[in-house]
Amino acid sequence: MTSITPDTILLTPGPLTTTAQTKAAQLRDYGSRDHAFIDLTARLAGRLNDIVRGGDEHVCVPMQGSGTFCVEAALGTLMPKSAHALVCINGEYGRRIATICDIIGRRRTILQTDEDQPITAAPVDAALAADLSLSHVVVVHCETSTGILNPLAEISAVVARHRRGLIVDAMSSFGALDIDARNIRFDGLVAASGKCLEGVPGVGFAILRKAALEICRSNCHSLALDLYDQWRAFERSGQWRFTPPTTVVAALSEALDQFDVQGGIAGRSARYRANCATLIDGMEELGFVSFLPRRLQAPIITTWHAPADPQYDFKAFYAKVHARGFALYPGKLTRGDTFRIGCIGAIEKRDILAAVHAISAVVQEMGVTRLKPAPAESHRSDSGLTVSD
Ligand SMILES: Cc1ncc(COP(=O)(O)O)c(C=O)c1O
Repeated sequence: MTSITPDTILLTPGPLTTTAQTKAAQLRDYGSRDHAFIDLTARLAGRLNDIVRGGDEHVCVPMQGSGTFCVEAALGTLMPKSAHALVCINGEYGRRIATICDIIGRRRTILQTDEDQPITAAPVDAALAADLSLSHVVVVHCETSTGILNPLAEISAVVARHRRGLIVDAMSSFGALDIDARNIRFDGLVAASGKCLEGVPGVGFAILRKAALEICRSNCHSLALDLYDQWRAFERSGQWRFTPPTTVVAALSEALDQFDVQGGIAGRSARYRANCATLIDGMEELGFVSFLPRRLQAPIITTWHAPADPQYDFKAFYAKVHARGFALYPGKLTRGDTFRIGCIGAIEKRDILAAVHAISAVVQEMGVTRLKPAPAESHRSDSGLTVSD
C-alpha cells in the first residue's frame, strides 16, 4: 500500500484518510474547458460506471457537492412530481431521504425497521403489492449511521418484479462491496468521491440506467441538481454545466489508479474486512459492546455502546483519543448512547491496532472500568417493522 502522511487518522464515515499521492494530485490547476480536464472527467465517469459493470445501459453523471447533494439530485431527477416513493428507513440516512422527499414535494410512504434490523425484501414486496400507487423504492445500501447492511440484491429483485423504479444510496458501500448492475437492477445508484474510493470529498456521482434517465427531462425541482440536464451537457460538450471541482476530480482519478493497483473491489473489500475484524476483536477484548451482531455488520463502520461507567464522557474520550492521533465519530442513533469507529479510508490493520491501543490507554487514563452499557441500552427489540405516511 502507498504511504500515509502523519495527519490524524480519520476513523469516521468521511472525509477519510487519503494517501499522499491522492492529496498531491490536487496540486495542479485545470481550467474547466481544458481538454485535459474534459478528458479526465470523461475517463473518470467511464471508470466509475465500470466499477458496477454498468456497460452501455448505464451512464455515470457526476455532480458537484457532498453526497447528500447527489442523493437529492437523484431523487429530484428520477422521480417525476407525480411519483410516490417507498422510503426504506433503518437509520439516519434513510430518514434524510424522507426529509428530502418532503422538501422537494415528492409523496412518500415510509417502511421502517429498528436501527439494528436490516430492511428485508419481504416487507418491500408486501408494500408494493398493497399499494399500486408506489412508483419507486429508495433504499440505503450500507446504513452508515450504524454500519448495518441492507440486502440490496434481494430488494432489487423484488422491485424489478413489481416493475417499479429503485434508487439506491450506496454512499458508503460503493467501491468496497460488489454491486453488479448486470444482476442488480436500479434506476439510480448514488455515491461520492470521499468514501470507499478514497478520494477527497467534493463530488458525488450517480450511475443511472439510461432508459430511466431518458424520460426525466424537466422532472427536477432544482436547476443546479438536475442530473438530466447535467448528463445532456456532458453529452454535448464534455463540460460541467457549472464550475467543476477540478482538484477533487483530479484526486479521485488518482485514487482510482490506486484502487485498480490494489485489486479493485476485491482488494479493497479484503483490506476493509481485515480492518473491521481487527477492530471488533480489539474493542471486544477491551470490554466494549457492539451495537450490531457480527452477521449484520458491513465492513465499513462499527457502532459501540457508550460505557455505563460514570467516568465516561464522550467529549473527553474523543479529545483524548484525538490527541493520540485518531478521530472517532459520535453516534447517530435515536435510542441509546453510542459512538462510531470507521474501518474505511487509506488505513490498514496496523492503524486499527494502534487505534485500539490508544483507546485502551485512554479508558485507563479516564478511570473507566465498566465498559459495558447500561442494561436497557443493549436490549435489542424483535422487529419493530412499520409502514406509515
Ligand atoms: C449512506 C450515506 N448517505 C448519505 C451520506 C451523506 O453524505 P454527505 O455527508 O457527503 O452529504 C452519507 C455520509 O456519510 C452516508 O454514509
